[in-house]
Amino acid sequence: MEKDFSVIDYEVQDNIAVIVVKNPPVNALSFSVRAGLLHFLMKAEKSKEVCGIIIACEGRTFIAGADISEFGRKPQEPDLPELLDYLDRTKKPVLAEMHGTALGGGLELALCCNYRIASKNARFGLPEVNLGLIPGAGGTQRLPRLIGIEKSLAMVTSGSPVGSTDAYKCGLVDQLSGENLRCDSLNFIKDIIETESVHPSISLKTKPIVNDEETQTILKTYRSQVRKRKRGFIAPEYNIRSIQASLELEFRDGLKFERKLFDELMEGEQSKAQQYLFFAERQANKIPDLDSKIKPVDIQKVVVIGGGLMGGGIAMCMANAGISVTIIESSKKFLDRCWKNITANYQNTQKKGRLSQEQVKNRLCLIDVSLEFEKVSDADLVIEAVFENMQLKKDIFRRVGKLAKKNAILASNTSALDLNTLSESSGRPQDVIGLHFFSPANVMRLLEVVRAQKTSVSVIYTCMKLAKIIKKIPVLVGVCPGFVGNRILFARQEQAMRLAMQGIDIERIDRLIYEFGFPMGPFQTADLIGLDLGWEKAFTNENLLVDKFCEVGRFGQKNLSGFYDYDASRKATKSELSEKLIEDFAESKGIPKRDYTDDEILDQCLLPMINEGVKIREENVVTRNSDIDVVYAHGFGWPAYRGGPMHFGRTLGSDKVLKKINYYSQFFKDRFWQTSHDFRNILDEK
Ligand code: 3HC
Ligand code: NAI
Repeated sequence: MEKDFSVIDYEVQDNIAVIVVKNPPVNALSFSVRAGLLHFLMKAEKSKEVCGIIIACEGRTFIAGADISEFGRKPQEPDLPELLDYLDRTKKPVLAEMHGTALGGGLELALCCNYRIASKNARFGLPEVNLGLIPGAGGTQRLPRLIGIEKSLAMVTSGSPVGSTDAYKCGLVDQLSGENLRCDSLNFIKDIIETESVHPSISLKTKPIVNDEETQTILKTYRSQVRKRKRGFIAPEYNIRSIQASLELEFRDGLKFERKLFDELMEGEQSKAQQYLFFAERQANKIPDLDSKIKPVDIQKVVVIGGGLMGGGIAMCMANAGISVTIIESSKKFLDRCWKNITANYQNTQKKGRLSQEQVKNRLCLIDVSLEFEKVSDADLVIEAVFENMQLKKDIFRRVGKLAKKNAILASNTSALDLNTLSESSGRPQDVIGLHFFSPANVMRLLEVVRAQKTSVSVIYTCMKLAKIIKKIPVLVGVCPGFVGNRILFARQEQAMRLAMQGIDIERIDRLIYEFGFPMGPFQTADLIGLDLGWEKAFTNENLLVDKFCEVGRFGQKNLSGFYDYDASRKATKSELSEKLIEDFAESKGIPKRDYTDDEILDQCLLPMINEGVKIREENVVTRNSDIDVVYAHGFGWPAYRGGPMHFGRTLGSDKVLKKINYYSQFFKDRFWQTSHDFRNILDEK
């Protein structure tokens, strides 16, 4: 019988039953783990020999939560509440022995134990909110009874884990372990058995917690915070409501209330989209047909050429991950500016309390700035981030190709230039790759890893691994104009301009896109990026609306005038001049005025994005549809609760989307409305 529970080890040492979960990679609470834990808990409880129980995990972490891949399927019994209910009622004292990350259901399980011990590098969190959920196994009822309302609210609404020192201070864990966690656990429980006859149980604190004026203020503050910071997401408010229930309801009623909210969220579209993105992100890391013998190169030394806006940020990413980096500039003036920007950036973070003085010092120590181009010969990875100029970049790649050591990786941060051409100019195209960071590079998590025709798989593999080290979310893409993110954005921007030219108020378009969940609308985006991107006075394009704006010196936020007017604090107001420019331009092109419903406006902005995504997939620029969604959710502000353009299109229904695109293609005869023959099959691909 016991042979069936292979994901659990059970042994008795000095009258203590040690139950060890062995379910790699993260010891998720899948059916077999739940069944095994229940079986061995019962066995220990019944055993005359056993006086106390330890629950521990093998491998890199304590239980990191429920098994998300089981969500959406009919749960196999025992479900998590059933297991935890048994654990909660166990008569013998139980100690949770935690290392790595105790998350979600894992932490909830630990909260059902009488005691918790943890290694010093352990972290604890209830990240369900990131999956559009609330903790569904007692977390919102037990945690506030243990550590109070405020800390609980912080944990459930942010989803961020706390470290062991904080956890110890607030009473989430009873003891931090030194060198030998198992040895400390055994000693801890043996001591407890000797000294205590009654063992604490959170659920026995059945009385609601104090609900005074201060508590109400805390709840109010969190509510207003999440309304701003998590606009559009349902789960944060549900988390607050469930924590609030711990104040108002008896423990068992609170559990029922929590479960009701959890089930409601689980059924909803937001959580499905967020769960989808969780796996999409991890899928994006996987390179198809990778030879398992390939080993990533160890990147210890990076050189960044060009210390402007992007180069400085990229260098900071490396230093933040403990990698030493040299920035090479073309003149002393630019070198000084670069160093000043980096130090100011770190000092600001320090002022906000997010870095200590020591950390800032250590990071700055890893950054070197230089005018000596020859320093590229030292690097394992060279990242070019000079002006977006083909001739200049070709020249740099030619020089780097000669100087860089054998097997060094040569990367470009270009956003639009042809990487295949660039790679050839290096003389070693197999070593060349695109690393397309987004601005601000030290903050934005997306990294488009661009594979040129001849890029070697080993170079790709190393860059995907490096991305994780520098805490980026990498997506492997092929060469095409604008790669994935900008190419799809361009489709939306074009259609938004066209709507404006048909007389639709730009504020209305921006508002609709904002209400859909983007951080800003198309015209606010255009003003932020700069209308003069790629514009040169001598080559003004008569057919481009934005070029008309540039001709009259309206470049966007940078000079406080673009589609909107801006005050010194960059607050936007409507501009009559901008309206006139749009109207005159439309008239000169003979574009008739039309009116649309709100839904039609949204459709016209969003459908071209889905359509472009389908084409990108058809051209094999990405490996899977979900890669496009990861780019959009992490780099372009697509609301995570709507999954990304491909997920959104698929859930709308590929037939319906195609029908609508075909309808609009009668009026707009350009590539944004032309569809692939295989549209439905591609969009339906999971
Ligand atoms: N369920 C199923 N699979 C999971 C999982 C989970 N909870 N957590 C991680 N995995 C899988 C990943 O999909 C990945 O699989 P792959 O190798 O096939 O792609 C593998 O484990 C490793 O994951 P990561 O690449 O993310 O590994 P890291 O070392 O970078 O991070 C981690 C580890 C911090 C544990 C991270 O995986 C994580 O945050 N996991 C999710 C934790 C979570 O959300 N827990 C709550 C679940 S919901 C819940 O518990 C509901 C309850 O309240 C009822
Ligand atoms: P930038 O103008 O801020 O910086 C470019 C830097 O390169 C300048 O500091 C310049 O002095 C330096 N430089 C020029 N020639 C050089 C040489 N021969 N040797 C050493 N340094 C030299 O430009 P930015 O915005 O940082 O862009 C850099 C690259 O990143 C471009 O290819 C751009 O397309 C790309 N990119 C830009 C993004 C953005 O939002 N600005 C986003 C993603 C990519």
